[in-house]
Amino acid sequence: MALYSIFFLFVLLTVLPHPSQSITANQSQFFVLMKASLSGDALSGWDIDGRKPYCNFSGISCNNQGYVDKIDISRWSLSGQFPSGVCSYMPQLRILRLDHNHLYGNFFDSFVNCSFLEELKMSFVYLKGTLPDFSPLKSLRILDLSYNLFTGDFPISVTNLSNLEVLNFNENPGFNSWQLPENISRLTKLRSMILATCVLHGRIPPSIGNMTSLTDLELSGNFLTSQIPPEIGLLKNLQQLELYYNQHLSGTIPEELGNLTELTDLDMSVNRLTGKIPESICRLPKLRVLQLYNNSLTGEIPSAIENSTTLTILSLYDNFLTGEVPQNLGRFSSMVVLDVSENKAIRSTSN
Ligand SMILES: *[C@@H]1O[C@H](CO)[C@@H](O)[C@H](O)[C@H]1NC(C)=O
Ligand SMILES: *[C@@H]1O[C@H](CO)[C@@H](O)[C@H](O)[C@H]1NC(C)=O
Ligand SMILES: *[C@@H]1O[C@H](CO)[C@@H](O)[C@H](O)[C@H]1NC(C)=O
Ligand SMILES: *[C@@H]1O[C@H](CO)[C@@H](O)[C@H](O)[C@H]1NC(C)=O
Ligand SMILES: *[C@@H]1O[C@H](CO)[C@@H](O)[C@H](O)[C@H]1NC(C)=O
Ligand SMILES: *[C@@H]1O[C@H](CO)[C@@H](O)[C@H](O)[C@H]1NC(C)=O
Ligand SMILES: *[C@@H]1O[C@H](CO)[C@@H](O)[C@H](O)[C@H]1NC(C)=O
Ligand SMILES: *[C@@H]1O[C@H](CO)[C@@H](O)[C@H](O)[C@H]1NC(C)=O
Ligand SMILES: *[C@@H]1O[C@H](CO)[C@@H](O)[C@H](O)[C@H]1NC(C)=O
Repeated sequence: MALYSIFFLFVLLTVLPHPSQSITANQSQFFVLMKASLSGDALSGWDIDGRKPYCNFSGISCNNQGYVDKIDISRWSLSGQFPSGVCSYMPQLRILRLDHNHLYGNFFDSFVNCSFLEELKMSFVYLKGTLPDFSPLKSLRILDLSYNLFTGDFPISVTNLSNLEVLNFNENPGFNSWQLPENISRLTKLRSMILATCVLHGRIPPSIGNMTSLTDLELSGNFLTSQIPPEIGLLKNLQQLELYYNQHLSGTIPEELGNLTELTDLDMSVNRLTGKIPESICRLPKLRVLQLYNNSLTGEIPSAIENSTTLTILSLYDNFLTGEVPQNLGRFSSMVVLDVSENKAIRSTSN
């Protein structure tokens, strides 16, 4: 009987929905470390000494087993060194939002332990240094490291993260020159790929056409060359396509872009695109912004554009377009900006 009770107690303790003492001690230790190394008013509410339960701190949440699963200090204007090893203290951390703070430290070291992490947001943290192998972060869905000052190689290991939905490295101008590998198309769950001003060279791989979950593709401000692959026309959910200011994208604008019926914003300005503006893109039912300025486009502006009910910005200046601006442009839509100046022989019929 006594043996039974002991066994029962053992089972009870094993399945009890609370983390062990050492986990609790580790978790609370990390808050002590954070408070000691970061300065900013926002942390004053974290009552470390009063032994208030940290699961109740602002910006913190725990799962129902008592493990910290979220740290959100986004826009808290904190500064200082973020303690390293976050996931060895908080082994079930799922969400880490540190964006818009002035942090430094070696916290990437601890990522080997972050196998539960689904969301990592560190934009506008002004971080320097090189990035590690991201492969161990197998659960990652959202990776936003935009607006930092990283150097070294772009972490191509992100191609291992098959659950990734958002990949944002916008404005990290310190990377070594790199190219988009063919295997980027393994990331078939990716909705948003934002790699503008990331020192990206070379061509856009045609395999990109397999990334059919994409709604937002932004590759502006890089050094991309060659033609725009017609396979982009397979991205049937795409709403925003930004390829401006690569200066060296050449060839014609693929007619296949006219298949992107969800597209609202298309900007391929400041490149070396030649040939005509495809009529197919002028018929896109949701297009609001069409910017193709500073290219070498020829021919006339397709009159199909007159029928758009959605277009508000049309910017085609600095090309070699000929003919007239379609007479009834903006007939059905409320045009805000129309700039077709600096073309070869265009005769404007509106202002
Ligand atoms: C607590 O943290 C220490 C140091 O990071 C680590 O060695 C130890 O394994 C952790 N304990 C638990 C239960 O995770
Ligand atoms: C947690 O915080 C809420 C509101 O801030 C408060 O009402 C509640 O009593 C706190 N719970 C504990 C256990 O401290
Ligand atoms: C963290 O990862 C390191 C390296 O893989 C490992 O040695 C350590 O035990 C891990 N710590 C925890 C708490 O899982
Ligand atoms: C990442 O992918 C590479 C290439 O397929 C592979 O060699 C490596 O083992 C992967 N890493 C992890 C942690 O899965
Ligand atoms: C993808 O290709 C790049 C460059 O060829 C390579 O370094 C990387 O390991 C590949 N990733 C996977 C997951 O195979
Ligand atoms: C797209 O994926 C299929 C198989 O999933 C593959 O056969 C094909 O080559 C891929 N297309 C491109 C352009 O990479
Ligand atoms: C895409 O557009 C091209 C040219 O405009 C057309 O030939 C092709 O059939 C279209 N593909 C699909 C899948 O709609
Ligand atoms: C067009 O781009 C070229 C460089 O690609 C630049 O020299 C020129 O000034 C630009 N023109 C305008 C009007 O922006
Ligand atoms: C605009 O729409 C009208 C009515 O649907 C159609 O008759 C006309 O041909 C269209 N214009 C162009 C240039 O496609």
